[in-house]
Amino acid sequence: MNIKKWLSKNTNSLQNKVVAITGSTGGLGINICQFLCELNADIILLDRDKAKATAQIKNLTEIYPNIKISFIEMDLLDFKSVITACEKLKNIKLDYLILNAGIYNVKREKTSLGFDNVFQVNFLMPYYITKTLLPTLQKCGGKVVAVSSIAHNYSKLDAQDIEFLNRKKISKIYGNSKRFLTYALFKLFENENCASLTLAHPGITLTNMTNHYPKAINWLVKIGIKILFANPKKASLNIIKAMFTTANKVKPQWVGPAMFNIWGKPKLKDLKTATQNEIESIFTTAENLYNKIKK
Ligand SMILES: NC(=O)c1ccc[n+]([C@@H]2O[C@H](COP(=O)([O-])OP(=O)(O)OC[C@H]3O[C@@H](n4cnc5c(N)ncnc54)[C@H](OP(=O)(O)O)[C@@H]3O)[C@@H](O)[C@H]2O)c1
Repeated sequence: MNIKKWLSKNTNSLQNKVVAITGSTGGLGINICQFLCELNADIILLDRDKAKATAQIKNLTEIYPNIKISFIEMDLLDFKSVITACEKLKNIKLDYLILNAGIYNVKREKTSLGFDNVFQVNFLMPYYITKTLLPTLQKCGGKVVAVSSIAHNYSKLDAQDIEFLNRKKISKIYGNSKRFLTYALFKLFENENCASLTLAHPGITLTNMTNHYPKAINWLVKIGIKILFANPKKASLNIIKAMFTTANKVKPQWVGPAMFNIWGKPKLKDLKTATQNEIESIFTTAENLYNKIKK
């Protein structure tokens, strides 16, 4: 795929548009930010690691000297830091909010807010941020792009174990958090007329997230992923495409690789992985959790 041609066909200039992005220091985030610079966006990096974010700003401004780029500290494991960051973002004209940060194969811990760390980073905080910034987004017709995963389909809602605390398999625990993110946000935007949501996923690509297998098989998996799947640069185009795609509000859709959700160019597709009842239950649970923590 010729990326330059693809960009000119699938995107528009983002001059004077403000894009805030979480997880900008990760494998996909770095590439998304480069494309945002190509498109002339004003970028706000929402990251936990100030040193990494500062290095990212330095690298980008060396290549794109005219770009407007800033950093707001936001650690999704630290609720206070999320509240403070949202307070700052509330006063900014926000055209796009890209919810890209995520964790996969980490030691499971209870956060200071009292939740499972994977559930909090991948779902609860992105949901809180979206709800909190919705009035800001509504003011300028802003769009949320949330980065989901094919793993969201490895789990189904378990009302007795919402955070999958009794599960051991990391792909299911991660999948559950992405399932909550996907369907709670979908439902939140179902009747929303001023702001919008487009769900996206990158397929499978080699980043820190996919670089976690036991040492003995790590290199095999690494080579396999490199040969079989798109590199992070191409995979990140799915998120860029989502920024310029209007998804159906009544039936769930997402933007991801065209073929088997793994290969090919970014494409908008229907998402048929949950029943209406499950979507309703996920949304009700999400709203209850939001109301509990916002107090
Ligand atoms: N790679 C894949 O194959 C794949 C497949 C499906 C979906 N995804 C999704 O794509 C998104 C980006 O992942 P990636 O592949 O780029 O992984 P990555 O390289 O591991 O990047 C993850 C990003 O999330 C940030 N992050 C992690 N914990 C955080 C916290 N507590 N507070 C704030 N930021 C935090 C990381 O920050 P630090 O740099 O400070 O660690 C990093 O910027 C994730 O949502 C992931 O679930 C990836």
